[in-house]
Amino acid sequence: MSEVLLDVDGLCKDFGGLEAVKNVSFQVRHGQIKALIGPNGAGKTTIFNLITGVLPADAGSAVLGDTQLLGLPTHRIAALGVGRTFQTSLLFDQMTVLENVMVGHHLRGRSTMLTAALRIFGAGAEEREYREAAMQALDRAGLAHLAGRSAAGLPIGQRRLVEVARALAAEPRLLLMDEPAAGLNMRETEHVGEIIHSIRDGGVTVLLVEHDMSLVMNISGEILVLDGGQRLAEGRPDEVRNDERVLAAYLGEDID
Ligand SMILES: Nc1ncnc2c1ncn2[C@@H]1O[C@H](COP(=O)(O)OP(=O)(O)OP(=O)(O)O)[C@@H](O)[C@H]1O
Ligand SMILES: [Mg+2]
Repeated sequence: MSEVLLDVDGLCKDFGGLEAVKNVSFQVRHGQIKALIGPNGAGKTTIFNLITGVLPADAGSAVLGDTQLLGLPTHRIAALGVGRTFQTSLLFDQMTVLENVMVGHHLRGRSTMLTAALRIFGAGAEEREYREAAMQALDRAGLAHLAGRSAAGLPIGQRRLVEVARALAAEPRLLLMDEPAAGLNMRETEHVGEIIHSIRDGGVTVLLVEHDMSLVMNISGEILVLDGGQRLAEGRPDEVRNDERVLAAYLGEDID
């Protein structure tokens, strides 16, 4: 077993009486693709928001390497190497694909995405450096050929990958992906799976939230299942798939 990169312990978040995250603990090891699954409202995105400093936690800890993330501002957490893609698309349609990814190189959390966009252009030598980092990130996401295209009108499958490239441009050690296959067809989903694999092989540890069970089962080394903010089960795909509690939580859904 390799070293632990992210150690989440006793994480709690309450929204005015709604316990969205109840005492959740888990670990992500270096080089792992770990999935966080569960029905709608299980608390998955909230956990990402707590780890990335978008929301303050009520209790618990989230340690990256030996640094406590909770309590730090989003830009510090990003600078420590935690990258993220969002459940809903956040591309600037008036920019090219490359420019959208350049924003990522300067991205320090969602709230300052626009500030980052305004700051990077026209910055001379720095702009060239961002451009190079962004081209490399596009290449890793398999999108180098689209660099000069406008983001407007890009098919959803490619929009998703532009967001992945944007997160990669900040050179994360840990990449949190929130439903990267949402809205994609089977072929596009398989392609995203291949890209996630190659990102991991390139040295980035991945924590994946995803509803597409074929993707989750195919690419994850380990799966944590949440339900109603609580940890329901955890294990390898073959263990989780046959767990009675998991089957009950997903009643009526096909998890194969
Ligand atoms: N900022 C917020 N304020 C109040 N309630 C919130 C907030 N964010 C999330 N919630 C609530 O917390 C619960 C968990 O939401 P969360 O978005 O984490 O679920 P999820 O597992 O990501 O679901 P989905 O699969 O639908 O994306 C839900 O009941 C949701 O309505
Ligand atoms: Mg969510």
